[in-house]
Amino acid sequence: MKKDEKLFAVFGNPIEHSQSPNIHSLFAKQTNISILYHSQCVDFDRFFDCAKDFFLSGGAGLNVTVPFKTQAFEFSDEASQRAINAGAVNTLISKKGHIFGDNTDGVGLIVDLDKNLKWKLKDADILVIGAGGATRGIIEPLLCADPSSLTISNRTLSKGENLVSVFSAVAKNANCQLKALPMNNLDGNFDIIINATSASLEGRLPDLDPSIFDGSACYDLMYSSAPTRFLDWARKNGAAKYSDGLGMLVEQAAESFYLWHGVRPETEVVIQKIRANI
Ligand code: ATR
Repeated sequence: MKKDEKLFAVFGNPIEHSQSPNIHSLFAKQTNISILYHSQCVDFDRFFDCAKDFFLSGGAGLNVTVPFKTQAFEFSDEASQRAINAGAVNTLISKKGHIFGDNTDGVGLIVDLDKNLKWKLKDADILVIGAGGATRGIIEPLLCADPSSLTISNRTLSKGENLVSVFSAVAKNANCQLKALPMNNLDGNFDIIINATSASLEGRLPDLDPSIFDGSACYDLMYSSAPTRFLDWARKNGAAKYSDGLGMLVEQAAESFYLWHGVRPETEVVIQKIRANI
């Protein structure tokens, strides 16, 4: 390790397909910042020990991915408001040994939808499918983008209803109608549909009436070299446009990079390079 080189890593399980080391090394080259960034597969019951060891051995910052984001929140000595709202942390920063936790996933999604894809969020009717950790992290940023309505639809309805009650005050402040509906009771009038379920990880599709896709813009938080199974399904059922979550991945990384280094990297060229490599 060179004298001015700081140590960073991403922890997850599984981790072998993580693009984070590539993304951060492209950002570092672009901004002339010297970093060491590696990925580490952490045993399911060893997150606290491994994170502690990482910072004790001089680590400056850590990205955290599935399934450790809730544990990373608990590990933080202090957390940002957006991490508290999400109940999850994807970025840890050591400030002289004091560990600060933040969550850049929500801002990553909004920047990708708004700046990269130019999908109009203001006054839009948005549907989010799923009510797990990924959904929890994006509800508040979506509400702050001023949509007309935000509907959460989940296989287990009570989890969607719980998120509605957690975010009801934010929705009221944002003057946005926030509701939970069962998957078999969606009327189909959505401008933007976001798949935040983990169904694709098992190669499955959520049990939805595909007519809801007609004319909508569909986003999958997951990404892959070809359109994800969900996006392919949406496209075949009339989605007007669609995107996977690669842009969100790069944008959340850019926000982490900014938190660590105080410099905001260019993302467009990095999205193109990573796209060409997956
Ligand atoms: P993550 O952190 O990725 O959000 P999670 O918290 O385990 O993971 O949540 C997974 C989400 O995907 C949940 O909303 C889950 O629905 P349930 O709450 O009913 O379990 C949803 N999900 C997973 N597999 C699914 C499937 N085959 N069809 C529909 N929804 C599915």
